[in-house]
This record gives sequence, C-alpha cells and structure tokens, in this order.
Amino acid sequence: MEKKKIDWENLGFGYIPTEKRYVANFKDGKWDDGALIEDANIVMNECAGVLQYAQTVFEGLKAYTTEDGHIVTFRPDLNAKRLIDSAKRLEMPPFPAERFVDAVEQVVRANAAYVPPYGSGATLYIRPYMFGINPVIGVKPADEYQFRVFTTPVGPYFKGGVKPLTICVSDFDRAAPHGTGHIKAGLNYAMSLHAIVTAHANGFDENMYLDSATRTKVEETGGANFIFITKDHKVVTPHSDTILPSITRRSLLYVAEHYLGLEVEERDVYFEEVKEFAECGLCGTAAVISPVGKVVDHGKEICFPSGMEKMGPTIQKLYDTLTGIQMGHIEAPEGWIKVIE
Ligand SMILES: Cc1ncc(COP(=O)(O)O)c(C=O)c1O
Repeated sequence: MEKKKIDWENLGFGYIPTEKRYVANFKDGKWDDGALIEDANIVMNECAGVLQYAQTVFEGLKAYTTEDGHIVTFRPDLNAKRLIDSAKRLEMPPFPAERFVDAVEQVVRANAAYVPPYGSGATLYIRPYMFGINPVIGVKPADEYQFRVFTTPVGPYFKGGVKPLTICVSDFDRAAPHGTGHIKAGLNYAMSLHAIVTAHANGFDENMYLDSATRTKVEETGGANFIFITKDHKVVTPHSDTILPSITRRSLLYVAEHYLGLEVEERDVYFEEVKEFAECGLCGTAAVISPVGKVVDHGKEICFPSGMEKMGPTIQKLYDTLTGIQMGHIEAPEGWIKVIE
C-alpha cells in the first residue's frame, strides 16, 4: 500500500477527509450491521435530536506506525467502554464494545494510506461518535441513532520542541456535581468554548477548572487531566466524579507504579497545595503529556521548579516510558497495543 503524499511533519490538527468512514444505524430498537462508506456528508432532518437537544457523545484515539512497521491503536477497548458510559448517561443505546473496536479497525485498515510513517510524529486521529438522528421536538431521547467513525491525519503535537504551558484558573465552571463532567458528551465542549476563547484572549494556553461546588479542588482542563509530581517524586492526580476518566492518565499511573516504581496517589487535590508541587502536566491522547510551567490565579503566579524551557524530570520519564510502550520500544502490558496490520 502506497502512502498518500502528505507533508506529515508539517500537518496541523485540522480535518482532512480520508477515503472511508464507518456508519451503523440504530432503528426499531436495534443496531444494523454497519458498513464502510465513502460519503463524508450526513443528511438529516432539520429537527434531528442532535441538532435540537445536543444528544451526541464521542471518542478520540489515534492509529500510528510502530518502529517495526505495524499500524496499531492504543487501548481502543477503553474508548469503547467510555463511549458506552457516555451513551447511557444521555439515554442513548450503547454501541457494543467489540463492534466499536471492529469498526475502528475497519476504518483504519481502509485508510491505511493515511497512517503517517514511523518517526514523523504524525498520527491518524480516529473520531468515533454517535448522535440522535430522528426528529425530536418535545424534550426527550431520540428513537433513532447513528454511530460513525471517521479518521483524519494530524501532525506532531510538539512541533519545534516541547514548550511548557501557562494556564489560568478559570472563572467558569466545567461540570456540575452529579452532572455530565465524567462523560465525553458534545455539550461539555460546547459550553467550554467561551471559557477557552476567553483564556486565549487573556494570553493563556489553557484553563484550570476547579470543582464547581467549592472552588477549592483542582479538576481538569477543557481537554486533559492533570498530573502533579511532588518534591519527593510521588505522582498525584485529582480524583473526582466530575472529570473525564482519561485513558492516558490511567495508563500513566500504571506506568508510574509498575515500570518506574513511583508512588501514585489518586485523591482530592486542593488548589492550595498546587504551589507545593515540583512538576505539573496535562495528559490526554493528543500530546500524551504537555508540561505546565506556570499557573496564574487572578494575577498570582505559581511557577513550577521545572521551569518554562522543558519537561520536568519525572514527567519526562513518564512521557518517555509511555511513548516507548506505544511505539514498541518497550514491552507493553498485555492488551494495550492493538495491531491492525
Ligand atoms: C475533558 C477531557 N479530559 C481528559 C481528556 C484526556 O482523555 P484521553 O487520555 O482518554 O484522551 C480529554 C480528551 O479526550 C478530554 O476531552
């Protein structure tokens, strides 16, 4: 298979349609067999549930090429499980986990020419999602749904090297107690747009959201979980029912404990103690870990000792180990790497 002629190193994070996508429809109480199709456009009724009441949930993962030339994905079973949890919370019919993994595999295989080569730093981003598609005017769940998976090639996250981020404590709340912060629903992202545009306008890279009930505890950013490193090298991450359970964060905690022998704590993290940490990072599929150099709370700066030039030493070790596992340089725990071809 010949790769597409794409300048992989200089790709950004934008939508570039690839040749095939997967579609399955839920109607009369069941999912159909699903198929790969070529049309990137969706025709739906003006009153579709997703358009009126935002009944949509999604996932994000990557396919990439390992050093020995295999196209692989990383723990897609966890994305499948998280989409099921998201769907249930929005009263949508779950798409079966094994069919999710199979659909991802089919789409990646069909678009293998768009999977960037090893060493380019680029990846094929995979977007599975589902939404209510039949007309709904009274506020209620739709009866019919569509599940889709498309892919788009994206460039290396750290172009021109790693640059620690400056983030601000947001005045906006991301998630209510007992709300939808723990699922990957479009509605969580729609309402975060004003907060991120405001943060950018004020010169910050990202928002740090605090818990909306007490505004004393660290939650997450709009698209990543936090990890902190204490001065005695413990890995600390917020435990909260209102943050998205990041697959990268869960993998990093395992790596910290089982590969690096570090102590790990998943617990309430009070904003008051942030100034005591030695390192801070944001973890998610896109970057694995982006280091944070500075947190600004209404003019008061917290500068981590790791500085504004590079990752701190422990975060660097975590990053190197997890990316080593992903790329096939370090042996992966059973079931983490799904080989597609
Ligand atoms: C709100 C939020 N938190 C955390 C994450 C990181 O999750 P993952 O590591 O599964 O990509 C994401 C990205 O999916 C996100 O949107």
